Amino acid sequence: ASKLGSKKERTLAMIKPDAVTKIGDIIQMVYDANLIITKAKMTKLSWKQAADFYSEHQSKSFFNNLMQFVTSGPVVAMEVMGDEAVSIWRKILGPTDSESARKDAPNSLRAQFGTDGTKNAAHGSDSLASAARELEFFFPSTTGHGPSNSATYTDC
Ligand code: TYD
Ligand code: MG
Repeated sequence: ASKLGSKKERTLAMIKPDAVTKIGDIIQMVYDANLIITKAKMTKLSWKQAADFYSEHQSKSFFNNLMQFVTSGPVVAMEVMGDEAVSIWRKILGPTDSESARKDAPNSLRAQFGTDGTKNAAHGSDSLASAARELEFFFPSTTGHGPSNSATYTDC
């Protein structure tokens, strides 16, 4: 049940290639935080798709390293839902750099499963607007053949 004054949100969580084998532990962290997974997909991003997903960073010095890493293997994208899901998932992730995370937030996901400032295990949308864009990127609302990806948790 939602707490009074809290708002139910949806965010995009993505397990990066270095942490896909930790999917069990990561899913547990989602549910331990009273969040639920309402959509999930494993895929391998092309360079073009990764550049689109991370387009806000295209002028950054680390962009090529980031593209190389995030296209190096499969990723698992998840729609995560719950009260304050955007900020709670970011809190679970911890600091961007896994090395800093091990000092400042040792129980965080990035501290436990990441390596450094690029190989950092997982992604989380940084705002409701980013979440809307990133969820549409992985789970487009357009209908196609096969099972729909638009079923909501309450439909299940
Ligand atoms: P950013 O959006 O700043 O971090 P976050 O993932 O915490 O929102 O950066 C996006 C990704 O780019 C980050 O997860 C890892 C990579 N990155 C680097 O490789 N080097 C860097 O110096 C930074 C800031 C990010
Ligand atoms: Mg970011």
